[in-house]
Amino acid sequence: MTDFKNKTVIITGAAMGLGLATAEELASRGANLTLVDYNETELNKAKEELAGKYPEAKFLTVVADVSNEDAVKNYVEATEKEFGTIDGFYNNAGIEGKQASLVEYDINVFKKVVDINLMGVYYGLRYVIPVMQKNGGGKIVNVASVGGIRGVMNQTPYVATKHAVAGITKNTALEYGRDNILTNAIAPGAILTPMVAEAFREVNPADPKAAEAQYASRNPTKRLGKPSEVAKVVAFLLSEDNGYVSGQIIAIDGGESNIYGNS
Ligand SMILES: NC(=O)c1ccc[n+]([C@@H]2O[C@H](COP(=O)([O-])OP(=O)(O)OC[C@H]3O[C@@H](n4cnc5c(N)ncnc54)[C@H](O)[C@@H]3O)[C@@H](O)[C@H]2O)c1
Repeated sequence: MTDFKNKTVIITGAAMGLGLATAEELASRGANLTLVDYNETELNKAKEELAGKYPEAKFLTVVADVSNEDAVKNYVEATEKEFGTIDGFYNNAGIEGKQASLVEYDINVFKKVVDINLMGVYYGLRYVIPVMQKNGGGKIVNVASVGGIRGVMNQTPYVATKHAVAGITKNTALEYGRDNILTNAIAPGAILTPMVAEAFREVNPADPKAAEAQYASRNPTKRLGKPSEVAKVVAFLLSEDNGYVSGQIIAIDGGESNIYGNS
């Protein structure tokens, strides 16, 4: 297990779900962490819990909405000021939007999904990359989705923005590999986080557990993924063990995205 001692990593969407699970994985390995989220209450709760459990890790919390360019610039500057450098960036914050067909989709929700899932990811890269260039390199993990590889019924803006994240990842790897910056994206399937629990409530308000069981039955593993299983992959991609993986969209989905036909 690679040590993250003296390594500084920024995690967006760190207050819960996949961001929090990676924060815990890296904190357990002694990292300096900037935890970014727009939910101040949950962010402070997460930091308190992690700081109590992992005294060898260091924490900075920054309340920021990643769709606000100035707020993104600020979390990058605050990290440099506190820790002096940025070795890793987990560009994770994202929202699902609503479940609705393409024609009926609420335009304002559509634009919000684009602002957070696409522009938020872009702003992060725009401000983190120059710091990594100055400091001789770094590792970036963007968060796409199986919805960044395949279509998903009734989730057009989510699918569109996650395909865009896959594209941005390939271009970042292409343009900044020469600066010793390795950039990848993960494409999680259904991982049981608050976001996915909410999606099951929307699909079947009367019985979200039934929606969850039906979803799990389609997966080759017959279960949903755990946030900790995603965190281990992200930690590898951000670590010194990763020397040459770049520009990849890595599915973490129990094999589900390869299915064609019955499972
Ligand atoms: N859980 C899954 O199965 C799954 C699958 C594929 C992709 N993803 C992606 O993983 C990422 C994390 O998802 P999750 O399931 O952990 O979600 P979640 O809703 O459980 O947690 C997301 C966190 O991000 C924060 N956040 C959302 N928008 C923000 C913004 N504009 N600025 C700052 N913070 C913001 C939330 O407050 C929350 O703490 C998202 O990009 C999501 O699309 C998740």
